[in-house]
Amino acid sequence: MTFLAVADSAGPRGNALSPPEPPSILSRLRLETRGEHDAVEQVLDLIGSSLTRDGYRHRLEQFYGFYAPLEQALRARCAPLHRRAGGATFAAWPVSMHLALVPRLNKTAHLRQDLGHLGVLTATLPLCRELPPLEGPAQVLGCLYVLEGATLGGRLITQHIGTTFGITPTTGGSFFEGYGEDTGKMWQATRHLLVSSAPDKQTENTMVDNAIATFACLRRWCEPDEKQPEAHRHA
Ligand code: HEM
Repeated sequence: MTFLAVADSAGPRGNALSPPEPPSILSRLRLETRGEHDAVEQVLDLIGSSLTRDGYRHRLEQFYGFYAPLEQALRARCAPLHRRAGGATFAAWPVSMHLALVPRLNKTAHLRQDLGHLGVLTATLPLCRELPPLEGPAQVLGCLYVLEGATLGGRLITQHIGTTFGITPTTGGSFFEGYGEDTGKMWQATRHLLVSSAPDKQTENTMVDNAIATFACLRRWCEPDEKQPEAHRHA
């Protein structure tokens, strides 16, 4: 399902007296990643009538292979609030970002739980090694936009696997259930964080580039085997 463009609070507007406002970071993220979103949605094919129970399990295995190393890298990036470099100690990450990020890095645990319900041990699953760069806050937030946005489509997928396979959030569907009733609230908080962390064009560009890179890494990881070079698939 291709999501519709909804006017953001700062979409392009203008009249004869004032020039149009530049698109907000939220509009840019939505519009500039749309092609990648739709491509990944098509590759995953999670709400189509052809999805089987095995196919669903396979997708969870692939998500595990992507989220486990990515959440680990995100956690490592934001863990130290202060970093020592050449003897000097400096604030590497804004505290607000640390507080916002850490509670959200729980998707791997949900995937492990769901796969356990479906009889899969995660210890031997292949892990993705082609991850998006996470060198600074802007790249981290571009990546976060993608991971958090996935919880929106997740609600639809929860409905579909519930109706089709009888899988509920407590029997193998907790990953797509995401934040459940709190999904809207969490998404609003993510949007605020993105807006307040993009003070200039250069930061915006880095965020958007890394959101696109995150989608692309996931798509390549989930594409059918024949399209993947062997070295990329295995940890
Ligand atoms: C495979 C099935 C998927 C479906 C059916 C789906 C569907 C949707 C829908 C309906 C929305 C709009 C929700 C709203 O505006 O309330 C949405 C938004 C979004 N989805 Fe997906 N999605 C899927 C997969 C993914 C995946 C795998 C990711 C990322 C890993 C993702 C990332 C996003 C993002 C970032 C947004 C927010 C767009 C914005 O408003 O800025 N989606 N998706």
